Amino acid sequence: MGSKLEYNRCGENKMNKQERATAKSVRIDPDTVLIAENLIKTYTTGNSTVAALNNINLKVKKGEFIAIVGPSGSGKTTLINCLGALDFPDSGKIIYNVDGKGMGLDLAVMTNKQQKKIRLSKIGLIFQFYNLFPILTAYENVELPMIIDKKSPQEREKRVKYLLKRIGLGERMDHLPSQLSGGEQQRVTISRALVNEPLIILADEPTGELDTETTTNIIKIFLELKNAGESILMVTHNKRIAKTADRIITLTDGVFTHETKGGKPIEDIYKH
Ligand SMILES: Nc1ncnc2c1ncn2[C@@H]1O[C@H](COP(=O)(O)OP(=O)(O)OP(=O)(O)O)[C@@H](O)[C@H]1O
Ligand SMILES: [Mg+2]
Repeated sequence: MGSKLEYNRCGENKMNKQERATAKSVRIDPDTVLIAENLIKTYTTGNSTVAALNNINLKVKKGEFIAIVGPSGSGKTTLINCLGALDFPDSGKIIYNVDGKGMGLDLAVMTNKQQKKIRLSKIGLIFQFYNLFPILTAYENVELPMIIDKKSPQEREKRVKYLLKRIGLGERMDHLPSQLSGGEQQRVTISRALVNEPLIILADEPTGELDTETTTNIIKIFLELKNAGESILMVTHNKRIAKTADRIITLTDGVFTHETKGGKPIEDIYKH
């Protein structure tokens, strides 16, 4: 897996159609959902160059909850954006277990259509500022990725109602985001992230705007999801809640500098 793949400015890889068609998938451990290898991303603005990601390697297992912590500007959002196929590394590999059974495919060798499909149905993205459509209700916001993924109306209704009820928003489905609290809006985005049954949840500061009690509730939801087999990669500035994750990885200047074990019960997080 050593060869270097390159992307162009639009994030499309530089292989031609023929090369992509013959690009082979790789076998990976069926219990691994994501492998990032030697990721490098450099930003150049004027005369200054920033190595936002400087040779990042990461493996995420099924049902694993990983927290990424690190100072502002250390590359956390860049990492989430690259793993989520919203941005692209200069080089390196991002291999997803596309069939859930060990068929690994690198984002760089996928066609644009495959990349879009992965983004839509295999990756659940959650951001600090919720990113809900203000003119759509909670129900409609959650339903949208299923409509884009061409799921049937019956399947959509069943799944959206199930998720919103499960997350405690059964009575709020018809509310617009402006009629919901911050914690409720973040629960809508969690439901939306889960709607197409993704391989992994990528969350960038999901509790950044929330108070302590609401933060605890969101982390409880993540822990329930983890226990149900979901994989979660969460960026956070909150060192306390990071301790509830299985692994806590510190990112400093684009490099993973430290890793510790977590697994602290949520009930103990705010005890002194
Ligand atoms: N589009 C861009 N153009 C130029 N430089 C950028 C761009 N995006 C990010 N950077 C730089 O890359 C580095 C990493 O940024 P990133 O947003 O990933 O940090 P972060 O760890 O998420 O920070 P924070 O905790 O403040 O959200 C920073 O030095 C930032 O200034
Ligand atoms: Mg950030």
